[in-house]
Amino acid sequence: MADPDIDFADVQGTILRGYRVDLARHFVLGISDPAGVRTLLAALVDGSGGLPAVTTALRVEPKPPCFLNVSFSCAGLAALGLSADQLKTFDPAFQRGAASPVTADSIGDTGSSAPQYWLGGLGDGAQVHMLLSVWVTESRQVLDAVSAKLRAAWAGSLRELYVQDATALPDNKVHFDYRDSIAQPNVKGAPDSKRMAPDDQEVVATGEFLLGYANQSNGVYSVTPAQLSTNSSYAAFRILEQDVAAFNAMLQQYAASTGLDPELVAAKFCGRWRNGNPLELAPEAQGPVLPDEQLNNFHYVTTDIATDDTLGLKCPIGSHIRRNNPRDAKVNGTDAAHHRIVRRAMPYGPAYDAAKPDNIPRGLIGYFINANVANQFEFLTSQWNNQAEFVKAATGPGGSADGNAVYNISGQDIFSGVNDPVSSFTFAGKGAKGSGNTVINGFGRTIVTRGSVYCFFPSISGLRYLAGLG
Ligand code: HEM
Repeated sequence: MADPDIDFADVQGTILRGYRVDLARHFVLGISDPAGVRTLLAALVDGSGGLPAVTTALRVEPKPPCFLNVSFSCAGLAALGLSADQLKTFDPAFQRGAASPVTADSIGDTGSSAPQYWLGGLGDGAQVHMLLSVWVTESRQVLDAVSAKLRAAWAGSLRELYVQDATALPDNKVHFDYRDSIAQPNVKGAPDSKRMAPDDQEVVATGEFLLGYANQSNGVYSVTPAQLSTNSSYAAFRILEQDVAAFNAMLQQYAASTGLDPELVAAKFCGRWRNGNPLELAPEAQGPVLPDEQLNNFHYVTTDIATDDTLGLKCPIGSHIRRNNPRDAKVNGTDAAHHRIVRRAMPYGPAYDAAKPDNIPRGLIGYFINANVANQFEFLTSQWNNQAEFVKAATGPGGSADGNAVYNISGQDIFSGVNDPVSSFTFAGKGAKGSGNTVINGFGRTIVTRGSVYCFFPSISGLRYLAGLG
């Protein structure tokens, strides 16, 4: 059965559209007065009372000065009036929440990343109810003016638990100096993206990102009440602090021990050079930035001997982008298309200057969006990022004498793995059973979790329904 067209006016914008802005402010909020919050929601849906309207997936030209989206934790939906029976129909991971010990253990929020160390009391999931994010195209003044209006509107109804601004770095870089925001899933029926690097990967079913549509397994994720089901979505909101000095030191240390150039070590960890070029297309040297139409247009496994990289000789099987989207490589369980996520994150904190070292917190903050937290975000973090055993045995065109994929990955993801106290990363070389490989270990975690919320983005009609409760 063909999917119905998506009603973009009923979908919160950030789910299907990248806003491509330079500034954001994320408010993590607790509900003190549910009636006051319902009144606020009604105003935000309509954009009345001088407040900006919740941004939808409809493209508006010219670009508006500000974008706004709103989501709720399970405790937040309960505070607004959903019954325990209704909440039982939601994604079990969402019900459990990001701060639950079960979640933390499963996805690697342990040790220094444990909820007890999170900012703003976010580790106490029961008091975290609502997230409101504002993105602006122009200036901090606009952001401050919008924030002032919002704060006046929610005074007495919402408690600000934690507020964090995000600021884009030049060339869409993240704090480890890699270019980001290149790869996103092609979602069936989503608005065309002018800026997304095109590729010929499988178009992913709408139901992987929106409730109420067929997903990759031909099922439909839904919740009760029906008003909250179609066009809603879930996300993991993450605050991930990056230790740039430690990461740079790690590059130098392992460049020295392997004899590789530090920039090549950086590229092997990520799967892309710091300028964004993928190792699959630029295996030897980073070279000039490839045109947009090439940047994401590559495969790991092909039938062409010249381009096949089943063994990870060009792009390591354990690199960040290959773990998070193995594309056509053979993996245990279902294929890559069943576990895609939309990433809407931006750097926070000032750029690190190695000439003037400091301890100012900096990292990446934002949403990892999906229709099933357990099967998408949690699957990626708990399995593909934190295990090496998900890769299926496979030999390249040269046969087993050249090696087998299962021997060419070890340890956990450099960026989102636990990596402490045991860490390992494999630079694959030709040779049977990993005999040509170089393996490094002994590195710690350079990214720690400083906060996390599993949240539900209601559709616009769902927000209207919540506003009318009680
Ligand atoms: C501070 C933490 C992180 C940093 C610095 C980081 C950095 C990067 C970079 C530089 C890229 C390549 C740019 C691109 O392909 O668009 C990338 C891609 C990606 N990352 Fe991360 N990342 C982080 C956390 C995560 C987490 C927690 C997840 C998932 C749970 C994740 C999932 C992905 C995915 C799915 C891709 C695209 C892969 C593809 O389709 O080829 N990342 N990341």
